[in-house]
Amino acid sequence: MRGWIAGAMMMVVPAAGQPGTSTESGELTSLPAAAESGDMSVEEALWQRRSVRGYSDEPLTLEEVAQLLWSAQGISDPDQDLRTSPSAGATYPLEVDVLVTGIPELDDGVYRYHREEHGLEMRVSGDRRGELQDAAFGQTAVGDAPVVMVMSGVTARTAERYGPRAERYVHMEAGHAAQNVYLQGTALGIGGVVIGAFRDGSVSAALQLDRSEEPLYLMPLGRPPGQPN
Ligand SMILES: Cc1cc2nc3c(=O)[nH]c(=O)nc-3n(C[C@H](O)[C@H](O)[C@H](O)COP(=O)(O)O)c2cc1C
Repeated sequence: MRGWIAGAMMMVVPAAGQPGTSTESGELTSLPAAAESGDMSVEEALWQRRSVRGYSDEPLTLEEVAQLLWSAQGISDPDQDLRTSPSAGATYPLEVDVLVTGIPELDDGVYRYHREEHGLEMRVSGDRRGELQDAAFGQTAVGDAPVVMVMSGVTARTAERYGPRAERYVHMEAGHAAQNVYLQGTALGIGGVVIGAFRDGSVSAALQLDRSEEPLYLMPLGRPPGQPN
């Protein structure tokens, strides 16, 4: 297991960094360290991966959410600040948020993933899945999943180096990150689906995204029905 990457960027880091000890806005909840090995090979995950749009009522665990977030944008080389997902010129335009419900260590709400500290910061409190489902034209997967990951792109970060080509690069990067989550989820027995059909403005409002952050993918995640933890 890789140790946590202690953070200096956030205003407040909970004492001693026990996972899941803080949920107030502006504070950082430390996540359990990402696993470095698992029970399923990449080949098996590729064979088994499918889009899953229905979920059991069982919430995900903090460990599972942490692993899924790390697979999307976590740091895999702290010395060079490189991540699990490739990025054009390592400009890293993606931001990742999660709507979580039913996790004992976290109040329900929308959290921003802070990769350097491998932690979560609450941005919006309460269960916002209904708003997000409406924004996604009523797609039930969004309202039914215990966790919804949202990937957004800040194109200006990549445009600084690549100009107009940045737009396509950012969209490609969301695909890379989402595929990581698909495969990681499959390996953990967690199903999900990428959702591209939604009203941008309504998603931005539900998550209180910055104007520079363009929502690219919603990814409801949960345990497929009938599958034990
Ligand atoms: C760019 C993109 C947008 C998608 N948008 C949606 C969507 O809005 N709703 C949905 O249920 N599935 C969506 N999907 C998932 C596809 O429907 C799914 O990948 C496809 O049916 C193939 O099934 P599989 O993923 O199980 O192999 C999207 C997939 C991609 C790549």
